[in-house]
Amino acid sequence: MDTEETVGSLQRSGPYTFEWTKLHLPRWKTDPLRYEYDTLAAKALERLQAIAKERGFSDDPRKRPDLYQLLSDNHASHDDLQQLWTQLHAVPDWVDWDQLERGQRFFYRYAAANLMGFALQGFVGENSASSGVVEVLVRTGGFSTRVLLHRLLETFQWLLQVTESLKAIQPGGAGHTSTVRIRLLHSSVRQRILKMVETRPEYFDVETHGVPVNTLDSIHSIATFCCNHMWLQLPRMGVYPTDQEKEDYIALFRYLGYLLATPDEYFVTVDQAKATMESMLVHELTVTKTSRVVCFNFIKCLVDLPPFNVSKEFIEAGSRVLNGDELCDQLEMGRPGWVSYACFRGHCWLVTALAIAQRLSPTFDRWIIEHWKRLLHSAVIQSGLKGASKFDFKYVPKEGIKVEKEGNERKGVKYGLLSRPVETFYLSIFLLGLTLASSVCLAAAVGLPKLALYPARWISKRVGG
Ligand code: HEM
Repeated sequence: MDTEETVGSLQRSGPYTFEWTKLHLPRWKTDPLRYEYDTLAAKALERLQAIAKERGFSDDPRKRPDLYQLLSDNHASHDDLQQLWTQLHAVPDWVDWDQLERGQRFFYRYAAANLMGFALQGFVGENSASSGVVEVLVRTGGFSTRVLLHRLLETFQWLLQVTESLKAIQPGGAGHTSTVRIRLLHSSVRQRILKMVETRPEYFDVETHGVPVNTLDSIHSIATFCCNHMWLQLPRMGVYPTDQEKEDYIALFRYLGYLLATPDEYFVTVDQAKATMESMLVHELTVTKTSRVVCFNFIKCLVDLPPFNVSKEFIEAGSRVLNGDELCDQLEMGRPGWVSYACFRGHCWLVTALAIAQRLSPTFDRWIIEHWKRLLHSAVIQSGLKGASKFDFKYVPKEGIKVEKEGNERKGVKYGLLSRPVETFYLSIFLLGLTLASSVCLAAAVGLPKLALYPARWISKRVGG
């Protein structure tokens, strides 16, 4: 049996170290949460399914009900629906809308660093190594490389909708509606897997992994969404969020977690949220065979993807910098050469320089935020998804469906200077930075002895005179 960590002990997760404190969550507290889940939405889902059946909807993709619409139209007709609706529309007294609006800006302010961190640390490192979560993901089929890109875009759609504006996350707004849809989607996934377990208990090991989409996994996911940027991702790229930024972004996800039935007490303060994230690092990361499948398919899905054609080596280098070699070796990732590390370093120098410039100039900061918001909304929602998704339950778990390692059916990128534009750009930043740094060092080496002569002469004059 695992023993509890002692207060004051030094803990390590990859390149990140911290001290275990009283705020950290011992196993006796978190383990039972694996068997708890969102019963309110589960009951409401059953009621909605009964209403849908009465109205002629079915599992046929063309006849599937829009669960959110059904909930919105019928919440007054049944206690379970009304309770869920009331909870979703009640605004907790700790919500400070101005703070949440500031939190929304954080996502776009450091968009380049946030997106890179989210992909390479959040997905590649944390998500792949969350052993219970990946067991659910591979059973929905959504981690097959054929559909993974679409699912990733859907996740980004949600992230963009909940950071778009204050109106978007308030009841009735697009981000609020999407969050409710996700909550119902999670309930559908759980219900489906548990139904299959009734007749085939070996299909999903509830004893080990807990209930699918359980409370502990949800706390872990919310922590990954909001805390990892602050301590595990941005600082490793040379960007240091301010205390205010940490407070605001965590408060935003405390509210989103509330809408997703994730207990909010783990995100009450920055210190508590940090301790929650760190507790998950210590207790919840275990690399399994399924982790390797999820990681492999995730990388395959991104490699050589037009128009950026990012290479496998660049993804591996970035993942190794952010997650550390130990985890990446366990995930069976390759070891790229120095050029890929240089490209990733170029990315880090760029985001660091941008962050400094944004702190110096609020006008530039506002421009960056607006620019990223427009760019991402049009690239992800309009071009990528061809319109906002309603997050319906597409990849229904079925017997025999469990994703394995897959290729991406792309032919690969022909070698050329501009065949990998992002890496070429980052490499030029690295070379430019290196040239600048060497010039400064050279100037200092040549100039310093000369400069040192002046005070020496001045002193000798005084002493001599
Ligand atoms: C509480 C924080 C969470 C957030 C913000 C969140 C967000 C999302 C979003 C935006 C989607 C839709 C896009 C997509 O299909 O990927 C989604 C779907 C999904 N989520 Fe979550 N999620 C959370 C927790 C979890 C947990 C803890 C699990 C499981 C262990 C999970 C399992 C899934 C599955 C299986 C789907 C896809 C269903 C399908 O195949 O259509 N999620 N989630």
